[in-house]
Amino acid sequence: MSTPVLVAVAWPYASGSRHLGHLAGAYLPADIFARQQRIIGNEVLMVSGSDVHGTPITVRADAEGVTPQDIVNRYHQEFLSQWEELGINWDLYTTTGTSNHALVTQEMFLAQLQNGFIDKRITSQLYDPEAQRFLPDRYVEGICPHCSYNEARGDQCDQCGKTYDATDLISPRSKLSEATPEARETEHFYFRYSDFNEKLSGYLGEQEGWRNHVINFAKGWLTDEGLIDRAITRDLDWGVKIPVDDLGEGKRIYVWYDAVIGYLSASREWATKTGDDEKWRHWWHNKDARHVYFIGKDNIPFHALFWPAQLLATKDAIGGEDLHLPDDIPANQYVTFKGGKASASRGVGLTISEGLEKYQPDALRYALAANFPEQADTEISEEEIVRRVNDELVSNWGNLVNRVLSMVYKNSNQAIPSPGEFTPDDQALLNQVDDSLRISLEQFDQVELRAALRTAMETAQATNRYLNATEPWKILKIDEPRGLTILFVALSAINGIRIMFQPFLPFSSQTLDSMLGKQNGWARQELQPDSPLLKPTPLFRKIETDETGN
Ligand code: MF3
Ligand code: ZN
Repeated sequence: MSTPVLVAVAWPYASGSRHLGHLAGAYLPADIFARQQRIIGNEVLMVSGSDVHGTPITVRADAEGVTPQDIVNRYHQEFLSQWEELGINWDLYTTTGTSNHALVTQEMFLAQLQNGFIDKRITSQLYDPEAQRFLPDRYVEGICPHCSYNEARGDQCDQCGKTYDATDLISPRSKLSEATPEARETEHFYFRYSDFNEKLSGYLGEQEGWRNHVINFAKGWLTDEGLIDRAITRDLDWGVKIPVDDLGEGKRIYVWYDAVIGYLSASREWATKTGDDEKWRHWWHNKDARHVYFIGKDNIPFHALFWPAQLLATKDAIGGEDLHLPDDIPANQYVTFKGGKASASRGVGLTISEGLEKYQPDALRYALAANFPEQADTEISEEEIVRRVNDELVSNWGNLVNRVLSMVYKNSNQAIPSPGEFTPDDQALLNQVDDSLRISLEQFDQVELRAALRTAMETAQATNRYLNATEPWKILKIDEPRGLTILFVALSAINGIRIMFQPFLPFSSQTLDSMLGKQNGWARQELQPDSPLLKPTPLFRKIETDETGN
């Protein structure tokens, strides 16, 4: 049975270059999962786009003396070409700057207003008397009221992941001037998150198989303090316009309220582009769909708590049906470089462009996937990338494919050999490959991508051991039919193993497809004796360590 699967991927801020930590945190796992889901025949819709609003963009624009749109254009272009180079295969990669996105955001806002979940309040916000403006979100830093981290931002603390109001910060500092921020009254729209505590507890209580750190964080928030109502508009002139004009000038919708709506607006944009405006409902108004969100752990509150509340609050408005809630949020923890959290702006770790300059895309994908921070923060040094590529990808999988294909090409008339009877060891290897395919299917279903990659690599290793034990290069000289049978068995094993690698290694898999024929589905296909083979070329190249500058 084919399931409609929404692969929803965190929208990167178009405010600076993204680094390998972001790639390993969200975009790459999403692509690998989506590719595997397509292979097993599910109807995958993988969407994301550049997050173009909010203070991350305006702070950068202010610093460079250019417009926010200049910043957005620069980084959106950079991201687009990186997805291409990395083989990140979106159904749609758009931006939150489209008119479609503004319309869908405003439609949701109005529905929630109508349903009584949004109201207007007068609050005090931090104001910079020197710069003469309010200090939303990243315009202010201070000490986190929850964990005392000293560089907490106005809306969220990078250390403990909690969100709060800037006025809750201890010793707030303006990022615009030396002046001490003062509190001033201003009017904003509030989302009544507190109305959803019970519903969200029920929803989270029903979820099964989520990563512990994700479900514990979300449930813990509800039981410890519960959600409080929050402003969803800001004193800022960059963002989606508020669809009711009674607050006056200079206010916009808060970036975190609009960005998550991107999943829905992008699905609608995609549907329209396919020529069927209503097709998005197959994923959003469908109880049988599966929605899987790929994000970094700092995004957990927005996806596991606030976004479900926004979806629930829209009830009976958009199309009169419930909107599908997240089914799984396999958030990754952080990638660290030399012990520190990767951060392009602080110069810790490689940017995606730097990674692509140094490594082949499949090599980079492999090394990162082997170290995905699925359960804990994970160190990915350049030494580790080189080790994974040279000692595993090249010397295990690459070498296996290369030596078997070369021996077959040379000894079997450039065609798949005809096998004789299988020995118990031959059969045992092929059984192991088929078992591994079943195991990795299960691991993919649980979004345990690191484990699925290990399953593939261990099966390649087992095949190398089989070759070392059977020594076809010697047997071919004394018993050619048996030698060719061994090669047939090894090639059959490769034919199964390559299925498991395909989601991880799209470029080299395409090369293999051209040599061995395209695969269908998640099961090893029998090879056809006598089918011609192309002259094999090595799939990967070894990284010379002086290339990396180490
Ligand atoms: N732009 C945010 C970040 O980089 C992620 C937004 S995810 C979305 O942390 F769903 F809200 F779009
Ligand atoms: Zn904190």
